[in-house]
Amino acid sequence: MKLKVARGYSKDASSYQIYEVPEKPGSTILDALLYVHDNQDDTLGFRYSCRGAVCGSCGMLINRVPRLACRTQLASMLLPESRHLVPSISIPEGGFELGREVLIEPLPNLERQKDLMVDMTPFFKAYKAISPFLLEKEGSEHFMPQPTVRELERYTNCVLCAVCFSSCPINGKELDYLGPAALAKLYRFIIDPRDAQRSMRLEKGNSTTGWWGCQFHANCAYVCPKGVTPNYAIAKARKMIRERTVAISKEDS
Ligand code: SF4
Ligand code: FES
Repeated sequence: MKLKVARGYSKDASSYQIYEVPEKPGSTILDALLYVHDNQDDTLGFRYSCRGAVCGSCGMLINRVPRLACRTQLASMLLPESRHLVPSISIPEGGFELGREVLIEPLPNLERQKDLMVDMTPFFKAYKAISPFLLEKEGSEHFMPQPTVRELERYTNCVLCAVCFSSCPINGKELDYLGPAALAKLYRFIIDPRDAQRSMRLEKGNSTTGWWGCQFHANCAYVCPKGVTPNYAIAKARKMIRERTVAISKEDS
């Protein structure tokens, strides 16, 4: 099987190298890259750590869809996609022969460092901006109802891989947009009954770089390898803001 891998340091992936890798049942894209690294070319740059979709470091653009390399089966990349991303300026379509080769490029919307490695600074800057930790209420115990636990779990599974950030057409255009992962995390603290700053957090996203910047393309939910649904979180936060505005206007009248 052929891998068509983007090589180089420039912002745009325009130089590619072809590698032949063996087709083994159960092989992932990460296994194939490790095979190349060990047997053909140890100058190929890519990141990984856990090999089990936990560390979030092996995100890359595979057949023009952002994915985790350790979670993506090589054989499945020879088949047509069942769904398609909403096009964005940073992810062009095509560029490979489906069924004959797998195209592997660095994640879009982030500066390339080398080959398949990108600088994650803008992603973590947005993440840091939402204070991604519990601002705990005073008191010893906080009751957490089961439906809240279940809703929280939907967001706590995030492994900070930036795959959603790279798939988002808004992140591709607006440098200051917080992006799907940071907004999902912000919402996660808004619904946490242990947090003391829930209304401050709702307000934190109340701008066009937050809740109101999203255009609900839903690429984020489609590509997320952990089943996180940032678009749903954003819709719920917008609803909370609308309800809060209605409540305030009723009080005033
Ligand atoms: S929300 Fe999903 S895609 Fe986005 S950073 Fe978290 S795990 Fe990765
Ligand atoms: S190597 Fe850790 S998520 Fe893929």
